[in-house]
Amino acid sequence: MSKDDTSPYEVKSTELASEAVWHNMKISPEQRALLLQQKPCCIWLTGLSGAGKSTIANALDAVLHSQGKKSFLLDGDNLRHGLNKDLGMSEIDRAENIRRVGEVAKLLVEAGLIVVCAFISPYRRDRQMVRSIFAQGSFIEVFIDTPLNVCESRDPKGLYKKARQGILKNFTGISDPYEAPQAPELTLDTSRNSVEDSTKQILSILSL
Ligand code: ADX
Repeated sequence: MSKDDTSPYEVKSTELASEAVWHNMKISPEQRALLLQQKPCCIWLTGLSGAGKSTIANALDAVLHSQGKKSFLLDGDNLRHGLNKDLGMSEIDRAENIRRVGEVAKLLVEAGLIVVCAFISPYRRDRQMVRSIFAQGSFIEVFIDTPLNVCESRDPKGLYKKARQGILKNFTGISDPYEAPQAPELTLDTSRNSVEDSTKQILSILSL
């Protein structure tokens, strides 16, 4: 690539990164959490499309909300309509998707919230990167380990069918990898556990 082909945005972001200076904030994350009377954390749901991540994430968010907790939900499909609408499903775009979401989740946790994230996040390295930006104990990885054949039989968006027909490329579990977590805080299988039971199990391992 010649110098003239360089995107002005790339140049700008490199310059910004080297010139940016960190400003300490007067109010600490601990003070914000104290005000909200809760222990902020990031609950990260990973698993195949159709595994039940969004359903469990919504149920969990609703229970937390009903208990008076200040929570927020970040969902892959939704964020790909806005913040991440410029990203596709290649390995590099998924990495950027997860990096951005991890940074947003971290900001929300610093603001004092209990953040529930539902992303396929198929690559171990990307999930590990997100874990590494959180303090010990405040990142809880939940593996929604619903078998591929169950996810495929559910096929709520008709995507597995399109993937099998070759219309949809890079489809996780069919033509793209899913790297299962090796040491998640919790593993759930929605073909065995009800949504209510899954939600209860997640709540039981949180110290809010
Ligand atoms: S991730 O891999 O980058 O974490 P994310 O959770 O944001 O993915 O988005 C997944 C959603 O994108 C799925 O629920 C599905 O609706 C849609 N999707 C579109 N194309 C694909 C694909 N090739 N593989 C998986 N999901 C896809």
